[in-house]
Amino acid sequence: MPQNLTIRTAALPLAPTGTLVIYADEGQPPQGAGGQAWTATGLDFAEIAAAAGFKGKPGQVLDIAAPSGIAAKRLLVLGAGRQDPQKPASGSAWADRGGSLAAKLMASGTEAAAVILDGHEVMPAGVAQLAAGVKLRQYRFDKYKARKADEAQSDLAVTLYVADPSATDAAIAGRMAVAEGAIVARDLINEPPNVLGTEEFAERAAALAGLGLTIEILDEPALRALGMTSMLSVSQGSIRPPRMVVMRWASGGNEAPVAFLGKGVVFDSGGISIKPAANMEDMKGDMGGAAAVVGLMHALASRKARVNAIGIIGLVENMPSGTAMRPGDIVRAASGTTIEIVNTDAEGRLVLADLLWYVQEKLKPAAIIDLATLTGAIGVALGNDHAGLFSNNDDLAMKLAAAGLATGEKLWRMPMGAAYDKLIESRFADIKNSGGRLAGSITAAQFLARFVGNVPWAHLDIAGVALNSPPTETNAGWASGFGVALLERFVADNYEAK
Ligand code: BES
Ligand code: MN
Ligand code: ZN
Repeated sequence: MPQNLTIRTAALPLAPTGTLVIYADEGQPPQGAGGQAWTATGLDFAEIAAAAGFKGKPGQVLDIAAPSGIAAKRLLVLGAGRQDPQKPASGSAWADRGGSLAAKLMASGTEAAAVILDGHEVMPAGVAQLAAGVKLRQYRFDKYKARKADEAQSDLAVTLYVADPSATDAAIAGRMAVAEGAIVARDLINEPPNVLGTEEFAERAAALAGLGLTIEILDEPALRALGMTSMLSVSQGSIRPPRMVVMRWASGGNEAPVAFLGKGVVFDSGGISIKPAANMEDMKGDMGGAAAVVGLMHALASRKARVNAIGIIGLVENMPSGTAMRPGDIVRAASGTTIEIVNTDAEGRLVLADLLWYVQEKLKPAAIIDLATLTGAIGVALGNDHAGLFSNNDDLAMKLAAAGLATGEKLWRMPMGAAYDKLIESRFADIKNSGGRLAGSITAAQFLARFVGNVPWAHLDIAGVALNSPPTETNAGWASGFGVALLERFVADNYEAK
């Protein structure tokens, strides 16, 4: 069971607490209000730090039990690293600090902690990122595990002592909306595929109506009426019916909307071109793009972003069966383009092709960003440190890459062009759905580009970063929620009325 977490702010003086946390810069004793708390203990900082090998490096901790002179049972001094006044810590550095704080508090079994951030030149925005980092690191997906007796977990209450509690509360509310959006995405990705099918996913997306979003769910007859045969060719092998969910957030006046599309393959067996058994269970996460879109819409609505944003997700299951699509089949996408299916495991692009047509035809967006766990090849190219960025527009690509650097959800732009497009030419149809082994992520993007008209468009291949993620400061592991913080920042910087 995840612990219940409450985070609140307060102004000094300090109230009695279980664990008191203060920070020390590298090579320095604690300063400001934290320094005063240390001084009250009467302990010699230089002597204790030297004996414990504590240098104030990030991640280092000095743990003092039952300190006298202060109203706390335990005092933790956390290393803040080297401060560079010319270059203040980035948002993601603050979030990392919060994540490492949460890890320390959880490992020490703390129920109530007070953290002194006053007097450390910490602005409300930094504290808010730290609070979001605490929440993201504290997240666990363990609802299917029996609670182990020796791990009985209690609730965690964190009080952040800051210079300006009301300004900090406002900043925290905004960042928490984003952290919660990422957690919405993680929950969807982590959920097993027997529990979260297409209909169940659509219902979870529909719950966003409670935040003021307008939700429309299209079922199979509706998709068939629109001619979305490319997407339907994927779902035809599964007993789970296809769904397309359109989520609208309209708080941006008369501006054309920015649209986010997500691949939502609730389970990708490969279909008739079936995948090998090893790690096939990871393919429950093949809806990571759709999950990020739902998490993003959640975040934008929770913090009442002044923007017109549309999220569209295509939900299907890719299964082998007597009704499944076959290699060799030729299908006509909604745009009219014919596609020769040469590999039924290249299914994500078949879904996105029809979503791309739908959004351009019906909603006339100012820009389109799609997110998809599209190719294993992107993980081969970029590992789990960057998602692949493909775009027909340099300005859009630059804005996305900048948001990536600001949030730590980094993007690396990949090339596109006629030489790659040639690889998806088909003998029998307009295009085929796989270009073979070479440049697999790029030919997938070229396939998508065949369905994009004269509109700024970017495709984020998140197969290497959305699932199977290693533990980080702000994530205990597996589903990352990648894309939510990135695109929230992208919207805030480029589309939101100030
Ligand atoms: N869902 C997979 C891609 C994937 C791989 C996502 C690993 C997450 C982790 C996608 O549908 C797929 O199977 N792609 C194929 C494309 C090939 C058949 C052209 C691939 O990557 O091998
Ligand atoms: Mn596949
Ligand atoms: Zn897939």
